[in-house]
Amino acid sequence: METMAGMKRSHSCADLTQQEVGKEVVLCGWAARRRDHGGLIFVDLRDRSGIVQVVFSPDVAAEAFSKAEGVRSEYVLAVKGVVRQREAGTINENMATGQIEVSGVELRILNAAKTPPFYIQDNIDVDETLRLKYRYLDLRRPEMQGNFILRHKVTKAMRDFFDRNGFLEIETPMLAKSTPEGARDYLVPSRVNPGKFYALPQSPQTFKQLLMVAGMEKYFQIVRCFRDEDLRADRQPEFTQLDIEMSFIDREEILTMMEEMVAFLFKQAMDVTIDSKIPRMSYEDAINRYGSDKPDIRFGMELVDLTPALEGCEFKVFQSVLASGGQVKAINVKGYSHAPRRELDGLVDYVATYGAKGLAWICYNEDGVKSPITKFLSDEIQEKIAAAAQVETGDLLLIVADQPNIVANSLGQLRLEMGRRLNLIDPDKLAFLWVIDFPMFEYDAEDKRWVAMHHMFTSPRDEDIHYLAGEDLGQIKAKAYDMVLNGTELGGGSIRIYSRDLQQKIFDAMGFTPEEATSKFGFLLDAFEYGAPPHGGIAFGLDRLIMLMAKRNSIRDVIAFPKTQSATDLMTQAPSEVDERQLKELHIRAAALAKKS
Ligand code: AMO
Ligand code: AMP
Repeated sequence: METMAGMKRSHSCADLTQQEVGKEVVLCGWAARRRDHGGLIFVDLRDRSGIVQVVFSPDVAAEAFSKAEGVRSEYVLAVKGVVRQREAGTINENMATGQIEVSGVELRILNAAKTPPFYIQDNIDVDETLRLKYRYLDLRRPEMQGNFILRHKVTKAMRDFFDRNGFLEIETPMLAKSTPEGARDYLVPSRVNPGKFYALPQSPQTFKQLLMVAGMEKYFQIVRCFRDEDLRADRQPEFTQLDIEMSFIDREEILTMMEEMVAFLFKQAMDVTIDSKIPRMSYEDAINRYGSDKPDIRFGMELVDLTPALEGCEFKVFQSVLASGGQVKAINVKGYSHAPRRELDGLVDYVATYGAKGLAWICYNEDGVKSPITKFLSDEIQEKIAAAAQVETGDLLLIVADQPNIVANSLGQLRLEMGRRLNLIDPDKLAFLWVIDFPMFEYDAEDKRWVAMHHMFTSPRDEDIHYLAGEDLGQIKAKAYDMVLNGTELGGGSIRIYSRDLQQKIFDAMGFTPEEATSKFGFLLDAFEYGAPPHGGIAFGLDRLIMLMAKRNSIRDVIAFPKTQSATDLMTQAPSEVDERQLKELHIRAAALAKKS
């Protein structure tokens, strides 16, 4: 191994252009590839900027050439050389530096490398567990480096935007109080307070509201949040929020400012111009038309309610569902009436995973209608169904009859699935949407209680507050809003409650006793009595935003060291067992429930 002494890096690999031809340069990086070509050795040298070709010839530099013979993939090199124009015929149009190459004069091997477990290049087909185990190698790949360059540009632009608009970036505690929010808390035992625990914050929600009471007026933070919940492609146990809160504003002002921010981020980080006016849709419309509170509006295929068309229908399945408060809805998959029978059967299984007890189809073929249910439907009803769904010859109608939440979920998912299968979703489109007028509460049938749909600090609409005294809290709409991009919930927020009295009423409605409310949230209720200003805010999932900007399918690709579905880090092997002594200090008895495998 050699040192860099006397080799001061002069350029990044991909910064070299024809302008540097004739100059002596010093480059550092990794050997992406080494080829021997009859007396010449070619090394593709890679650093964060990209790749440049270095050529070693025994006629130019005998010592460098013989060292280059020992270079292998991922060796760390420092190269002194002269930039030269490539000869016609050896120009590589697919490479940013394909017009030039560096003729190596001196070579230092700064470090050797074992053969990596996978190729360090884009578009590799490698099991993700291997990528996560050797994350430092995975992150060496250009596409991964690109994701983090983008992420940096976006957070830089965020800070610029909020600074220009008079916001203060303020940190809030990571060791916080456990409060009953949405998900499960990660707990941290307190050594100096035996038997007591901190919770890692699920979000800085109460702190940012207290900062408003504290007169900070405009706050933002790029902040880590922790939630012990079931993980998916767009969920991690620790993730980053862009968290925002403002005083003396209404919903309109927040939505407008967030529209401007998003447009600014896309412009600054990607030079993409987006329409800074984002369309709005009520929660009710979103569910009715798309079966989802985060609709992907890049394509149509909206849900159609067949209930009016089915008046007088004698088909038992539909009759009994409608009689028990259910719905019959459909999507019209245009031009897909010749779907193979096997695929149609597969769709029945597909909706079953979302709880649908069945799926009926009607194929409107040129030579007539094909369907397992038309024999149960009169001609008149069949005509009404076709009219309701605006069917044309060649279309395929997919119908689900069930309780409203199951119809929405299963047909909403089926719509997305058919959109994907038929390539109806333009991957280059950016379809932003505000979903507004969310219900304040939803009923948790399992726990038999009302839970806040956004969170319990959200203000109900003024005109709905009186319903709090009644039984059906489902009627209350909240001053809450979500920003959706291409079917992903990017962010959510609300105008908040700032009166102790109203906050107490919400806690009551959710079934907290006054003692529980005081022990969990007394600090907030107290603060509301010392001049709390009207305020509101929002938080965006930073990882999700970057994922969508970078056109990735998983937030793991934009988090440097993410966790697996089972919340483990395959590289460091966290979580892990700890010493008995550590536990003792923390006053914890290890109930070793985990099965030793
Ligand atoms: P909410 O719970 O809706 O609101 O979270 C805001 C946004 O954070 C992102 N997000 C996640 N991203 C990755 N992994 C997760 N496990 C995860 N959970 C949430 C989503 C989501 O839209 N305090 C409120 C905001 C407010 O009212 O101001 C809050 O946390 O993109
Ligand atoms: P069955 O009488 O249960 O065999 O149902 C006859 C046909 O009705 C099935 O082949 C499906 O096409 C359709 N069907 C059954 N249940 C449902 C449902 N919940 N929603 C939509 N279609 C259904």
